[in-house]
Amino acid sequence: MGGSTMTSCFLLLPLLLLVMFGEARQAFSEIEEKNKQIELNDHIEATFKPKPIIKMVTKMANDHNSHDTHSSSSHMDHINPLLRVFFTINDLKQGKKLPIYFPKRDPSKSPPLLPKEQADPIPFSLKKLPQILSYFSYPSNSPQAQAVKETLEQCELKPIKGETKFCATSMESMVNFVRTAFGPKTHYEVLTTSHLTKSNVHLQNYTFIEAPKEIAAPRLVACHTMPYAYAVYYCHYQEGDNNVLKIQLEGENGDRVEALAICHMDTSQWSPSHPSFQVLKIQPGTIPVCHFFPADDFVWIPVPTSNSKLY
Ligand SMILES: *[C@@H]1O[C@H](CO)[C@@H](O)[C@H](O)[C@H]1NC(C)=O
Repeated sequence: MGGSTMTSCFLLLPLLLLVMFGEARQAFSEIEEKNKQIELNDHIEATFKPKPIIKMVTKMANDHNSHDTHSSSSHMDHINPLLRVFFTINDLKQGKKLPIYFPKRDPSKSPPLLPKEQADPIPFSLKKLPQILSYFSYPSNSPQAQAVKETLEQCELKPIKGETKFCATSMESMVNFVRTAFGPKTHYEVLTTSHLTKSNVHLQNYTFIEAPKEIAAPRLVACHTMPYAYAVYYCHYQEGDNNVLKIQLEGENGDRVEALAICHMDTSQWSPSHPSFQVLKIQPGTIPVCHFFPADDFVWIPVPTSNSKLY
């Protein structure tokens, strides 16, 4: 991957450097060392906790395979705080106030992103689950083993109609997928949610301090972090109308967030038990459903060459 294809990749640069200059040690010893530095609870918290967006993604994909507990519509008023990421296009205005959950994972406690040559030899399939668990010394009844199994299941689920998906185990494989999605000659950039202030508050009311800005994106690839022993991203794109938005938020405690969000204009194919419908109290195919991205997700969009200063 040529560095010259990157436009506003300030965020990506440290990751690329990590990839390119990563020591050529065995993947296993590196992961093990990193995992040793992290207290087990922190590690499970940072690495293996189910991510609501992923639940949402896979809920769309395959209803009966998703065994989350917060989709029962008989418990409308017990909304899991982690699901406070959804809103509707009716909320898209300056001055709007909403409770939003932003997971703020400490990057030093996140699992390492592996260079492709380290990641590729490690088995990554449900069939190889026993080997993977023994590779990482995870007892088969541990929360880590459960998370690894669930992530592999999500990664091997059939895509829904119109969806193309791929689980990337390295930055190179993620970039390759993006190039396949956009075509090899297309320039692209990566967008994320940025926390402009530091605090430990995860759920609070935020105000839209400006009118949300739509980002022109004829296509997009969203990559969500998955709970795993090392960094794994569930990347996918869908046909259909999706709007990418940048929204300036201010929390009640003064936190500032430059939040990335997406609005899905057509939800008619989604499962009626999709958690967003529970949170928003709406039906599939009615009004467009939007959600915020956590800061460790990536959204890739093509950049028109004429706008690209680097070329
Ligand atoms: C947000 O504000 C509403 C009232 O405006 C309040 O009832 C609610 O508890 C607040 N939520 C959070 C998460 O602070």
